[in-house]
Amino acid sequence: MLGSLILLWLCISLLAFLVRTRRPKNFPPGPGPIPIFGNLLQLNLENPMPDLERLSVRYGKVFSLYFGGRPAVILNGMSVMKEALIGKAVDFAGRPNGLLLNHLTQGKGVIMADYGPSWREHRRFALMTLRNFGLGKQSMEERILGEISYVCAHLEASAGKSIDPQTLFHNASCDIICSIMFGSRYEYDHDFFQAMIKMMAENSKIANGPWGMVYDTMPLLRNLPLPFQRALRDYHTVKLHVLGIIAEHRATRVPREPRDLIDSYLDEMEKRGENCAPFDDGQMIIMLLDLLFAGTDTTSNTIRTAVLYFMTHTDVQERCQQEIDEVLEGKAQVSFEDRHKMPYMQAVIHEVQRVASTLPLSVFHCTTKDTELMGYQIPRGTLIIPNLTSVLYEEDQWKFPYDFNPSNFLNDQGQFEKPEAFMPFSVGPRTCLGEGLARMELFLILVTLLRRFQFIWPEDGGEPDFSPVFGVTQAPKPYRMTVQLRGGLTN
Ligand code: HEM
Ligand SMILES: *[C@@H]1O[C@H](CO)[C@@H](O)[C@H](O)[C@H]1NC(C)=O
Ligand SMILES: *[C@@H]1O[C@H](CO)[C@@H](O)[C@H](O)[C@H]1NC(C)=O
Repeated sequence: MLGSLILLWLCISLLAFLVRTRRPKNFPPGPGPIPIFGNLLQLNLENPMPDLERLSVRYGKVFSLYFGGRPAVILNGMSVMKEALIGKAVDFAGRPNGLLLNHLTQGKGVIMADYGPSWREHRRFALMTLRNFGLGKQSMEERILGEISYVCAHLEASAGKSIDPQTLFHNASCDIICSIMFGSRYEYDHDFFQAMIKMMAENSKIANGPWGMVYDTMPLLRNLPLPFQRALRDYHTVKLHVLGIIAEHRATRVPREPRDLIDSYLDEMEKRGENCAPFDDGQMIIMLLDLLFAGTDTTSNTIRTAVLYFMTHTDVQERCQQEIDEVLEGKAQVSFEDRHKMPYMQAVIHEVQRVASTLPLSVFHCTTKDTELMGYQIPRGTLIIPNLTSVLYEEDQWKFPYDFNPSNFLNDQGQFEKPEAFMPFSVGPRTCLGEGLARMELFLILVTLLRRFQFIWPEDGGEPDFSPVFGVTQAPKPYRMTVQLRGGLTN
């Protein structure tokens, strides 16, 4: 008797869950969800890509999945991406709540802030300031070139040896952001720098991995002493240190003569007076950490992809060097302006970004209201996953969708041309805020390195492996490289 009562109760609660996770009317199609888990058990969480590929072949360009009880819609292909992120820009410009990342950032800052005035004003402020307005005497370009000189010194010291360049490029990208935000770079072995690098690495590992998934889908488990508690704690430690840096800036700043992003933010608060909302210290810290997170792995993984292709496509490397030598003849340093005279180099950098597809699933979006896409009904608050890889490798959009070939960005006259499907920074109102900075970094760093060094696949390097490691930011597998100084240079 008791047994059958329990059974009955189980069936009823199961039914209740099934009803709860049933797709809304006219929702994009997808596999049937299981209560509590949604479709999670149907995916290999270590690397869901192959499973997802299967689903998109079966269900089409717009399909849906359940993460626990939460429905998500996946967008594939350029026409869908444009209709959603540009055509219905506002409807699709939200960010999801209730994820581990939201709890770290408390909905403040830029990346995870939902669509609204605080996000808009911080985004505008950061864009303006990064565009070199109000960033003081040292230009963005000088800051980047300054960091490059440390990278070059390091590589010169290792010339002829085979090294893994991962941490070097990572440290350099991080330091460029530090210099913009805090006014100075750090030595790579500085205590705070080390703590920051470690926090970012561990937190992205946790947020990427199964524990992040557990946190995001099962709210009941959040207070247990599981690894995501460490993510929260480490984030807090770095936050406290940044608070200290802000206090130091307050004590030493000269109003309206900003040395860096923090000074500019303090100026902005002062300009707005008593009621400077939504600008305050809490928002500033999260905005700073956002830029650090968003600007480090992305840039350094792209540089690592570039070097991997230089070493394995020596004809491409040589042709870049030829163009660089010609254009920069007699000049001590490259400047960002020089890109207009380097169509081939530009094509190579864009092609690297295309094949690297550094943020394959962009950053997740969320619908801000009930909306419609490709004839489907999508309610407000639905998680939206833009599959940028599907556009960067889309068959009808590229001359050579599956190869590494700079001709994808060159027209018949050998001029640089950017197809519309080039969207590694995403599109629409949420498009990458650091695109200008990232493009400047990639150009200055790669040109300087190619001018100075020859990149060689070392004999002990094994077979090159181009398949990426899956993650929120995708990266090539670790590899080793040998650098050789190029002869005949004046500097
Ligand atoms: C090669 C390097 C980079 C790539 C491929 C990249 C790509 C992206 C992508 C795909 C997004 C998501 C856009 C969306 O939600 O639709 C994004 C957002 C963002 N990126 Fe980047 N990014 C790069 C470098 C940087 C740098 C250097 C910075 C800053 C200093 C930066 C700051 C941001 C910020 C703040 C956002 C959030 C924008 C918002 O939510 O409004 N990124 N990036
Ligand atoms: C994204 O697109 C790529 C290329 O078309 C595909 O291999 C991958 O499975 C897609 N991912 C998702 C989540 O749909
Ligand atoms: C990069 O920084 C980390 C952390 O400070 C350090 O352990 C590593 O040795 C640095 N790498 C290089 C190449 O300097």
